[in-house]
Amino acid sequence: MISLNLIQEFQRIFNTTQTPRTFFAPGRINLIGEHTDYNGGHVFPASISYGTYALGIKRDDQKLRLHSINFQNQGIIECNLADLSYNKADNWSNYPKGMLLYLKNAEYEITHGADILFYGNIPNGAGLSSSASIEMATGVLLEGLYNLSIDRMKLIQLGQRIENEYIGVNSGIMDQFAIAMGKRDHAILLNCQTLEYEYAPLELKEHAVVIINTNKQRTLAGSNYNERRAQCELALLELQKECKIESLGELTIEDFEKYKHLISDNINQKRAKHVVYENARTLEALNKLQQSDLQAFGKLMNESHISLKSNYEVTGFELDTVVQAAWEQKGVLGARMTGAGFGGCAIAIVGKDKMEEFKNNVNAIYRDKVGYDATFYMAAIGDGAKEILEGAVQ
Ligand code: GLA
Repeated sequence: MISLNLIQEFQRIFNTTQTPRTFFAPGRINLIGEHTDYNGGHVFPASISYGTYALGIKRDDQKLRLHSINFQNQGIIECNLADLSYNKADNWSNYPKGMLLYLKNAEYEITHGADILFYGNIPNGAGLSSSASIEMATGVLLEGLYNLSIDRMKLIQLGQRIENEYIGVNSGIMDQFAIAMGKRDHAILLNCQTLEYEYAPLELKEHAVVIINTNKQRTLAGSNYNERRAQCELALLELQKECKIESLGELTIEDFEKYKHLISDNINQKRAKHVVYENARTLEALNKLQQSDLQAFGKLMNESHISLKSNYEVTGFELDTVVQAAWEQKGVLGARMTGAGFGGCAIAIVGKDKMEEFKNNVNAIYRDKVGYDATFYMAAIGDGAKEILEGAVQ
């Protein structure tokens, strides 16, 4: 749906003749560096052209009226600036409510309510960060409507706090960062400990990134995500008895091998192993990309998946089936799960001339083994969260 239609929808739903302003926040893929962000390691994500549109106008009173075209049956969810507390029954609208609350608490001047319409074309629960996308779309919309000047890093950190404290998912900073800082045709290498980052052109030549949705839904709140994080924290505590480190991300592979005996629990040792090796792979991947060595880049993606499967144990039957099927196809440089895992999406880098064959073959194998279809999306790497000015809509 293009912006013009969304504007008409806005006017119909909120029964107004006013023209709202339109903002957009993308979803993200992560090329490599999985489950490293909350361990102070590196990630290498990119924002995609799928995302969340947020259209809004300021109100004269304190009311907040929220509607999502994706959840039409929930109608307009109404609340008041004076009470923005989390309410399970408010469902998806807790994300925008959380953003309002956290901005207000951070002393940004939001004195009036708003009518806001959301429309997202990121598949829900697919691990492409639809929730961080709603948060960041709300953030840039409020920044625009209330004429605030919000430091991007501050907005990103508020988004993460909303997830951690308000929603209750102990996620890291990658999703909000990738979504707020994305740059067309670039991936971002982020050091999650220092928050230093650099953009790297994603020059894949005759190849393209394809997103493969397993259509196995998952929510982070219902997954073992928080458990993985806790296991890493336990491993870190034991390593700290002899290593002067603040996070697993600071450990080199050599030091990990030297000190891993300090981690008493076998499972926790495997979790830490994944983090340390994945962090090293992520830095190597950037190098390979910069040297245009796409073969080596793809191989690192494959190794990442294998470690997420056997050390971190967050892949599962559907993701393993789809990734294995991808590896077997001609013209594939690499394939891996992306995001938290436990279902959701994989990504593959595939020769453009082999793309149709790739999709058909992978889907046939997947349907045969899993019993339903996978969905394929071509990923254009787009800009981060921003206002969409008239005439600039895709
Ligand atoms: C989710 C979280 C991120 C990150 C990934 C795994 O997307 O929101 O912070 O931990 O999982 O890499």
